[in-house]
Amino acid sequence: MKKSGKALAFVLAIAFILTFTLSACGSKKATVKENNTEQSKSGAGDTSDTNDSGKDVLVVYFSATGTTKGVAKKIANITDADLYEIVAAQKYTSDDLNYNDPDSRTSVEQNDPTVRPKIGSDEISLDGYSTIFIGYPIWQGQEPRIMDTFVENHKFAGITVIPFCTSGSSSIGSSGKNLADHAGSGNWLDGKRFSGSVSKDKLRNWIDGFHIKEKSKEDKKSMPKVRIGNKAVNVEWEDNESVQALRDLCTDKPLKIKMSMYGGFEQVGSIGQSLPRNDKQTTTRAGDIVLYSGNQIVVFYGSNSWAYTRLGHITDQDAEGMAKLLGNGDVTITISME
Ligand SMILES: Cc1cc2nc3c(=O)[nH]c(=O)nc-3n(C[C@H](O)[C@H](O)[C@H](O)COP(=O)(O)O)c2cc1C
Repeated sequence: MKKSGKALAFVLAIAFILTFTLSACGSKKATVKENNTEQSKSGAGDTSDTNDSGKDVLVVYFSATGTTKGVAKKIANITDADLYEIVAAQKYTSDDLNYNDPDSRTSVEQNDPTVRPKIGSDEISLDGYSTIFIGYPIWQGQEPRIMDTFVENHKFAGITVIPFCTSGSSSIGSSGKNLADHAGSGNWLDGKRFSGSVSKDKLRNWIDGFHIKEKSKEDKKSMPKVRIGNKAVNVEWEDNESVQALRDLCTDKPLKIKMSMYGGFEQVGSIGQSLPRNDKQTTTRAGDIVLYSGNQIVVFYGSNSWAYTRLGHITDQDAEGMAKLLGNGDVTITISME
């Protein structure tokens, strides 16, 4: 009797350990089905090059009462996209959503631009997506603060991001621009406001204007590689016609540019011909690559304010690294497609 009691306890202990271990493994990568699309939600720290579904387009949305969710699902269906819902760690109750109460949770959050409500949904990796639609309701004329939490915690480099929103009547206003500023990376396009009852045809017309399929092929074209002296550096290129022209210029053979130190903050060199330019007053930082005067490339290891056309930014060097590469004498920069 005593013996069989011990055996039972042993079996229960093993069962407990197995259950715990298996559920811990399972929580790292969850796959959910929504809108007939299999969506992979990668665990934090996932560094895979692409999402598991292999899809190009992702629709990310936050929806407190289901309206934006409905529009997000239609967009995902039209674009054959993955769908990801931002869920607040602390769900919004109807009291929280009372915008007539100046002390309600949403009123307090929207009145304080520094608030960042926590996200409760599984972490998602944006790797492998070339286009992301990002949707939310308008709260007090702006994006809900939880959207700021999301964009500040993800990298959008190389991704075209298209905001959309639903509202009682307000337009999208500056909310898309705010999100772009908070994100700090990505090619953010102007967004649009829809009513919850928007038809699929109307959405399709809007989406057709982005030429997503063609764009996605374009995005997959490789981008120029850069070497400073013998050191290869990573560059996040701008999406503009100057970069396209530069890319065309170095397609057949590498472009070697003899640079000269100037001003204690940059090296400058002639491309040998003019590229399309769209100069804007710019304050640069270490790592920035710009077009100056249409025919010269400038790479910064410090800062300067001037009218330039942005070409890109070196992402794998900090200010100290850039100073080491550029602050010790003239260099040659090689831009090539190899
Ligand atoms: C806290 C709060 C603030 C809102 N502020 C606005 C607003 O400024 N302008 C507007 O047109 N609608 C406003 N609305 C209405 C929502 O934008 C609208 O109902 C939206 O479609 C809800 O989307 P959801 O169901 O996806 O959460 C607000 C709603 C809430 C809950």
